[in-house]
Amino acid sequence: MEESKVEMTYCVTGATGYIGSWLVKSLLQRGCRVHATVRDPAKCLHLLSLAGGDERLMLFKADLHHEGSFDEAVKGCDGVFHVAASMEFSVPEKENVGNYVRSRIVDPAIKGTLNLLNACLNAKSVKRVVLTSSISTMTAKDDAGNWLPIVDESCRTPIDRVWNTKPNGWVYVLTKLLTEEAAFQFAKEKGIDLVSVITTTVAGPFLTPMVPLSVQVLLSPITGVKMSSKQAQITTKQGSRALALSKYSSSILE
Ligand SMILES: NC(=O)c1ccc[n+]([C@@H]2O[C@H](COP(=O)([O-])OP(=O)(O)OC[C@H]3O[C@@H](n4cnc5c(N)ncnc54)[C@H](OP(=O)(O)O)[C@@H]3O)[C@@H](O)[C@H]2O)c1
Repeated sequence: MEESKVEMTYCVTGATGYIGSWLVKSLLQRGCRVHATVRDPAKCLHLLSLAGGDERLMLFKADLHHEGSFDEAVKGCDGVFHVAASMEFSVPEKENVGNYVRSRIVDPAIKGTLNLLNACLNAKSVKRVVLTSSISTMTAKDDAGNWLPIVDESCRTPIDRVWNTKPNGWVYVLTKLLTEEAAFQFAKEKGIDLVSVITTTVAGPFLTPMVPLSVQVLLSPITGVKMSSKQAQITTKQGSRALALSKYSSSILE
């Protein structure tokens, strides 16, 4: 892939996170201008020291839970990488778990993503939005429980199955599936070019000051910390490059 010649501008949400910070770095390395959104300015010092950051990186305070929060960040952007996601999925022992999950976790997540898409719509400059989906939304089994020979984007776990069986990490999977569904519906109605990258679990060197959750998961067999997630052998750098260079997002980077 050729390095971009024209200086394009991309917004990266969740830039303080594990994937987000690598994505910011990758885009700066490619000569792009980056509008990085962060919730807490104190957590983004590592971004400011990135090569090219002094000239081509702008930081914006934005929260998915605040309406209109992304308006300034996406203004003038050619593309938006939506990486931010709340990773808080604890559900208290309650009778009506379904209602709790829907109202306290899924609905705010959907609202936040639609809030961002709305900002993209109003900006008028955004040509494509890239969502960060997860391998955990995929299934390798058919309805009868048989293993599939190939798993691709058609193998999404049915939402009903997640609600009914509540497998390990089900709240995360459900939130991802329903947010994606709502985002694609909104994009279709409003004419937004939206694509979703199915990201595997990533691990490797990190730019964040804290050990990222997915690295903790992959190290858990060694550390003994009990965690749950599907594991895949891919480095963070590859993961962020995959996002930046995937066939879906590449056209906006050309
Ligand atoms: N890491 C993986 O292996 C993996 C695999 C598949 C998919 N993904 C997806 O990739 C994305 C990034 O994952 P990650 O591992 O990089 O996670 P991460 O390190 O926890 O980063 C999450 C980012 O989202 C931000 N965020 C959380 N709640 C927010 C809110 N209400 N408003 C605005 N920003 C908010 C966080 O900001 P703060 O720093 O302020 O908390 C942080 O910057 C997520 O969508 C995740 O589902 C990750």
